[in-house]
Amino acid sequence: MLTEKQKLEALTRLGADLNRIKDLDILMEHILTEARRFVNADAGSIYIRKEDQLLFTYTQNATLQKKLPRGEKLIYSTFSIPTDKSSIAGYTAITGKPLNIPDVYRLDNAVPYRFSRKFDLTSGYETHSVLAIPLKTLRDEVVGVLQVINGQDESGKIISFSEEAARMMNHFASMATTAFERAQMTRTLILRMIRMAELRDPKETGAHVNRVGSYAVEIYERWAQENGIQDKELQTNRDVLRMAAMLHDVGKVAISDEILKKPGRLTEEEYAVMKQHTVFGARLFADKKSDFDEAAAEVALNHHEWWNGQGYPGRVDVDANGSPQTFPARGGKTPGKVSEEIPLFGRIVAIADVYDALSSKRVYKESWDEADILKAMERGAGEQFDPRLIEFFFSSLDVIRSIQHRYPDQDEEDRTCPDTLSRTQTIEQCT
Ligand code: C2E
Ligand code: SIN
Ligand code: SIN
Ligand code: FE
Ligand code: FE
Repeated sequence: MLTEKQKLEALTRLGADLNRIKDLDILMEHILTEARRFVNADAGSIYIRKEDQLLFTYTQNATLQKKLPRGEKLIYSTFSIPTDKSSIAGYTAITGKPLNIPDVYRLDNAVPYRFSRKFDLTSGYETHSVLAIPLKTLRDEVVGVLQVINGQDESGKIISFSEEAARMMNHFASMATTAFERAQMTRTLILRMIRMAELRDPKETGAHVNRVGSYAVEIYERWAQENGIQDKELQTNRDVLRMAAMLHDVGKVAISDEILKKPGRLTEEEYAVMKQHTVFGARLFADKKSDFDEAAAEVALNHHEWWNGQGYPGRVDVDANGSPQTFPARGGKTPGKVSEEIPLFGRIVAIADVYDALSSKRVYKESWDEADILKAMERGAGEQFDPRLIEFFFSSLDVIRSIQHRYPDQDEEDRTCPDTLSRTQTIEQCT
C-alpha cells in the first residue's frame, strides 16, 4: 500500500511523464498501472470507444500475468463489447456515470447491466469488485472507460473500492482522456502531412507508406532483440520509427511535378534535383522538438545513403539550427556516409523502402517478381545495405509478406479517408 506522501510523489511524477512520453500506448499503460497502484487493484482495463463497440485496448491483470511467460500478452486484448447498457463498461460509457460495484456476481436484479461470465470463463480469473469511470472529454463526449478490478487489502483479500478510491480514479480518467485526445491530434497532423506528400506523388500511396513503416518496425524489433534493448525503450522507438518511416519521402513535396511524375527514366540533372528530397524532408523536422522530429529528420535525410558510401546526400552541411543545407544540385558530390556513420533508422528504412519500391509498380517501372527482389536485396548486403540488418530482414520475411498482404495497393477512388480521423481510427486503418 502507498502512503499519502508516496501517492503525492507518484502523481507529480506522472504529470511530468505525461509531458515527456509522447507515445499513447505507453502513456495509457502507465496511467493504468499507476491507477491500479493507487487503489491497490489486481487488474484493470482501459476501453476505447470505437463506434458502437468498446475495445479492450489496454488490459493489465497481475494474477494472470504472473502465470504467463515474460513479455506475453493477455488474451483480453482482442475483446470488444457493445456500447450499450447491458454491460458494466457499456453502461458507464452510455450514461457517462461511474459505477462502483462490490461484487459483479451479486448484482441487484433491478440494474440493467450484467457481468458477462465469458471473461472469467475464458481467462480462468475471478472478478469481484469493479470500479468503472467514463473517459469524458470537456465536450462531455465519452471516448472510453477506465476500469479497475478486484481491490485488495494488505493481506491480498479482495474488497470493495472505497468512495475515496472512486474519487481518485476521476483524476486518472481525466489524464487518460487528455493523453488520448492529444495523441489523436498528433496523429491527425502527421496523417495530414503524409497525405500532402501523397497528393504530390500519387503512385506512392498510403499503402506504400504503411508498408514501409511496418517493415521498418519489424526490422527494428529484431535489431532491438539482438542488442538487448529494454522493453520500454523498444515500445517508444517502435511508434516513433513507424511514423518517421511513413514520412521518409515527405521531402518530395518540394520536387516539381515534371520530375516527380515523369513516366520514363530521369536525366542526370533531373535525378540530381530528385535527390534533394532527402534534404528537403529533413529540413521540415529541423527543430527537433521531440524524439519524433529527431527520428523523422534522421530517416528523411539518410534513407538513400548506402552502406558502402555510394549513396546520397552524403555529409551535408547544417546551419546553426541543425537544418541541413541544400547540396550542389548539378553534378556536385558530397562524400557519402559510410556504414555506421549512417544512423540506424536511416539504414533500416533504406531496406524497407527499396524492398517496397521493387515490389511495387511505379510511373517509371513495373513491379518485380519476388525471387528477383530477394536476389537484389541479398546482393545489396554490404553494398547498398547494412549486412546485419539484411539478415534481420530475411529472418522476418514471413511477417513482411503478411504486411504486404495487409496493405495492398488500391485505386485512388477506393480511398475513403476523411481529413480528420475519427476518435479511434489509426493511421494504419486510414491512409
Ligand atoms: P522510389 O521509387 O521510392 O525508389 C526508392 C529506391 O528504390 C530507389 O532510390 C532505388 O534505390 C530503389 N529502386 C527503385 N526502383 C528500382 C529499380 O528498378 N532498380 C533498382 N536497382 N533499384 C530500384 P533512388 O534510385 O535514389 O530513387 C529515389 C526516388 O527517385 C525514387 O523513389 C523515385 O521517386 C525517383 N526515381 C528514381 N529513378 C527514377 C526514374 O527513372 N524515373 C522517375 N520518374 N523517377 C525516378
Ligand atoms: C462486462 O462489463 O460485463 C464486461 C467485463 C467487465 O466490464 O468487467
Ligand atoms: C536511433 O537511431 O535513434 C536508435 C538508436 C541507435 O542508433 O542505436
Ligand atoms: Fe526517397
Ligand atoms: Fe519511398
